[in-house]
Amino acid sequence: MTDTADLLDAGERLGLDELRALQLERLRATLRHAYEHVPFYRESFDKAGVRPEDCRSLADLARFPFTVKSDLRENYPYGMFAVPRERIRRLHASSGTTGLPTVVGYTEGDLSLWADLVARSIRAAGGRPGDVVHVAYGYGLFTGGLGAHYGAERLGCTVVPASGGMTARQVRLIQDLEPRVIMVTPSYMLTLLDEFERQGVDPRGTSLRVGIFGAEPWTEEMRREIEERFAIDAVDIYGLSEVIGPGVAQECAETKDGLHVWEDHFYPEVVDPVTGEVLPEGEPGELVFTSLTKEAMPIVRYRTRDLTRLLPGTARAFRRMEKITGRSDDMVILRGVNVFPTQFEEIVLRTPGVAPHFQLRLTREGRLDALTVRAEARPGATPEAREAAARSIAAAAKDGIGVSVAVEIVEPESLERSVGKIRRIVDLRPR
Ligand code: DLL
Repeated sequence: MTDTADLLDAGERLGLDELRALQLERLRATLRHAYEHVPFYRESFDKAGVRPEDCRSLADLARFPFTVKSDLRENYPYGMFAVPRERIRRLHASSGTTGLPTVVGYTEGDLSLWADLVARSIRAAGGRPGDVVHVAYGYGLFTGGLGAHYGAERLGCTVVPASGGMTARQVRLIQDLEPRVIMVTPSYMLTLLDEFERQGVDPRGTSLRVGIFGAEPWTEEMRREIEERFAIDAVDIYGLSEVIGPGVAQECAETKDGLHVWEDHFYPEVVDPVTGEVLPEGEPGELVFTSLTKEAMPIVRYRTRDLTRLLPGTARAFRRMEKITGRSDDMVILRGVNVFPTQFEEIVLRTPGVAPHFQLRLTREGRLDALTVRAEARPGATPEAREAAARSIAAAAKDGIGVSVAVEIVEPESLERSVGKIRRIVDLRPR
């Protein structure tokens, strides 16, 4: 390990055997806590015929039922809490694109744990005490802003709580306050990049050296684009509000080889999305999490719908998860082929003549779904260059993914810019 070894906290120093023993102890306590204090878990365990004491090994967790998003909705707002409401210090909610939002709650202990894990994440990303950290994740019910904020403070950094939006001002703040670290969605980082260029400021000339990007899927091509255009190391942070928020898993700056799951607090499984069967390490499937130490809202076998695979640890003993390919909800089926927006990100970002901005339009032709990739021309791209780009994107989709798509090269600056999580798919199919 590199010179960062002496910066590791006690949890990160655990050997594999110690870690597995600790996980089992914490898992058993979590199952008991959930069963005793949350009627939903009591019912679902009873229905499946399992009791917390049936969990004698980590593998026994597979006998317990899954928890899904709709379970949280049906228990809206406080039904999943395992402590009296008076012990809850903070609530967050995830935007309910369909129906009710889901509410999550934190005790004082949970908030402290969360800050510790985000601090650990920032450190793994290359941030250090004393750094200025520019937080451009949205502040509010979304866990991104406040989660990053308290983690950076916990590490001993100076935090600039910029939140999302007011892009021109963000560029000014970055020039004046000289942050070394930025925490933001990768798509909003591209919006910032455009604004730097619009203002005639060289993005490589800023003080920024570390970018901690997450809250949406992004690819190696996007990493390359961002690292080249800013002079930074770009690493991936993962999390979801149901589990805690950002800081469930983090990519280490020294290896950039996928995200280490903070397994001393969250137990990961990857399951077959159709059968629910637990898959062996290395096989792709749906990520499932069980919290090991949360008080207010323990979560048991939560189905994230995020698709990835688990890999052995490298920079840490903890297992890694590969960069998320996409969410099962964002999967489009075109003539029998499963397609994810990240596959188009890879293609568009490799195509000369187009900017890294694109949108996927889904329409229906007869009984079949059709997809149009709308990508933005780079300023100054000639009509010939645009045509060549369109042909190249269509060919790459055909050869690389196996689907036929229409491609439209649109004017520079014409696609909507992200201020937070970007929406890649515009679904125009009749309901
Ligand atoms: O997005 C928490 C977060 C904030 C993570 C800031 C990282 C940085 P939710 O709004 O509940 O929480 O959305 C969670 O976002 O299930 C994934 O589908 C997606 N997601 C989060 N991080 C990543 C990532 C926050 N690094 C949902 N790569 C998750 C791909 C991600 N997808």
